[in-house]
Amino acid sequence: MSTAAIIPAAGLGLRLGGETPKAFREVGGESLLVHAMRGLLAATAADLVCFVVAVPAGTEELMRKELQPYAGNVPLLVIPGGAERADSVRAALEVVPVDGIDCVLVHDAARAFVPVEVVERVVAAVRDGAAAVVPVVPVTDTIKRVSAAGEVVDTPDRSTLVAVQTPQGFDPAVLRRAHAAGGIGATDDAMLCERLGVTVVTVEGSEDAFKVTRPRDLLLAEALLAERRL
Ligand code: C5P
Repeated sequence: MSTAAIIPAAGLGLRLGGETPKAFREVGGESLLVHAMRGLLAATAADLVCFVVAVPAGTEELMRKELQPYAGNVPLLVIPGGAERADSVRAALEVVPVDGIDCVLVHDAARAFVPVEVVERVVAAVRDGAAAVVPVVPVTDTIKRVSAAGEVVDTPDRSTLVAVQTPQGFDPAVLRRAHAAGGIGATDDAMLCERLGVTVVTVEGSEDAFKVTRPRDLLLAEALLAERRL
C-alpha cells in the first residue's frame, strides 16, 4: 500500500499570536511544518510516496525551496491553501495522484510531534479496510454544551467522549467524495465522512500529538523536543 500525505499549513494561527503563520513558527530551531513532515517520514510502514503541503497563498515558491530538503526522496507538491481548513485540504486532494495511492493521510502541521506509532496505527487500520480512521485520546475535562447565552444546556457522559487528533487516514475515493459534498463548518476531515454516513474508526492517539495552538503550547513543544533529544 502507498500513502499520500496532505499537510494543511495555510492557517494564520491567530491564537498563537506573532507575525509568522503558525506552521512556520520554530521549535528547537525548525518549523512546526518541518517537524510534522519528519514525523510522517519516520513512519516507514506508511510507505509515503507523496507530500502535498498547503501554505498561505503567495508563499508556495519560497516554501517549496525551504521544505524540499526535508522531503527526502518523497515527491513534494506545495500549493496555495484556501480560506478555511477544508478548502486547503480539498485543494491538496486535487493534486494527489489517483493511481497507486491506497491511503491518504491528512495531518495538521500544528500537531508536529505525533509519534511514529500513531501514524502507523492509522495507516494499518486503513490497510485493514477502514474507510476513515482517526487517532483519539480520552478527554480529562468534564465537557458541557452551552447555549448562545452561555448557559449550560447539558453534560454529555464523559466516558463516551474522546479528543480527536491527526493524522487522519482515508480511503482516497471516500475522502474525495466527502470533500466533493462540501466542507462548510468542518474542523476535520472525518466529519465530512460522517456526513456521508461513512463509519469512522478510532485508534489510540497520543498526548504528544497535541495541537500547538496557544503560546504556552510552544513551551510544551520545546520541552517535548528537548526530552526526545536526550
Ligand atoms: O486553526 P486550526 O489550528 O484548527 O488549523 C489546523 C491546521 O489547518 C493548521 O495546520 C493550519 O495551518 C491549517 N489550515 C489551513 N488552511 C486554513 C486554515 C487552517 O491549511 N485556511
